[in-house]
Amino acid sequence: MQGKSINILGIETSCDETAAAVVADGRVVKSSVVASQTELHEKYGGVVPEIASRAHIENIYPVISEALVQAGVGQEDIDAIAVANQPGLTIALVVGVTAAKTLSFAWEKPLVAINHLHAHLQSAMLAEEKLELPAVALIVSGGHTCLYDCESSLELELLGSTIDDAAGEAFDKVATILKLPYPGGPSIEKAAAKGNPEAVKFPRSMLGRESLDFSFSGIKTAVLYYCRGQDMKGENRVDSMSEQEIADIAASFQAAVIEVLVKKTQRAAKKIGAKTVLLGGGVAANSQLRSALQQMCDAAEPAKKLLIAPKQYCTDNAVMVASLAYYKYKVGLFADLTLEPKASG
Ligand code: KG4
Ligand code: ZN
Repeated sequence: MQGKSINILGIETSCDETAAAVVADGRVVKSSVVASQTELHEKYGGVVPEIASRAHIENIYPVISEALVQAGVGQEDIDAIAVANQPGLTIALVVGVTAAKTLSFAWEKPLVAINHLHAHLQSAMLAEEKLELPAVALIVSGGHTCLYDCESSLELELLGSTIDDAAGEAFDKVATILKLPYPGGPSIEKAAAKGNPEAVKFPRSMLGRESLDFSFSGIKTAVLYYCRGQDMKGENRVDSMSEQEIADIAASFQAAVIEVLVKKTQRAAKKIGAKTVLLGGGVAANSQLRSALQQMCDAAEPAKKLLIAPKQYCTDNAVMVASLAYYKYKVGLFADLTLEPKASG
């Protein structure tokens, strides 16, 4: 007879999405609710921490209630409460952490602390529990760009990360320069679809032959120079550019970032002899990145298996939190009520 399934309530408030989900046994998604704050931050062109925090406070109770209702479960069916407590905006994280601690105390359920980045990686493992090892993981989000040697959901070794801007941050900043709508990543992808990726030769920063670190601030500056002229004295020419010219810049920028991401992942894969490649994080929603990495894996000798997070679980969500928590739950890795949010991670 099969044992009772383990239902975990996951909570996520690290940036500008308030999310809650119920996941059974780490992979059966019973509900996933995400309240996005895009509209609130749009006019500022980026996430304003105080506004994010206030919106989380307003949304957290309805979002958690909705996740329980959609899953058709009540307090008695939940085995543990999981929350992303790092990395992120501290005043945003604290809302989720406080809610999770309150429920853990009131319902007398164990509390599981989750690293948001590791949870992004877990999204890529939703379809596959056992990885063919070694496995290399690329996590690309608005705040982070990381390569990991990944043995399991809980055993990760950081191989490299960005020394300045994250990949998603570069998408967002370049979208601002090009006066494309917020959030930048999806806007750049949309504009790029109509552009020529070879129109402008933007720099590809590889940081030396061996490095597994990333740098994206140079390409962002290169786009700015391109739009304002080399002496940076001119006005941003974007207003007088044709839609086609903007599409060409977006496509050329996107192609350069993707080339670096793919080459670095290939480098890391070679270094550890990877048989599997994993891709997660907000930027993993980008179709061109998904297909470029697929081509890289198919062309490798022998071909590598690619596991990509489903599109709806690339950007911030709580399914990834509840899913990862299952593996911590199984080995008794619990937090207590002293759990605090942490900006770094
Ligand atoms: O993982 P995420 O939701 O939040 C963080 O943990 O940071 O990632 C958000 C980032 C943003 O920078 C957003 O512009 C980027 O992911 N993004 C994309 C796409 N969709 C979201 N970047 C490129 N192409 C996309 N389709
Ligand atoms: Zn994220």
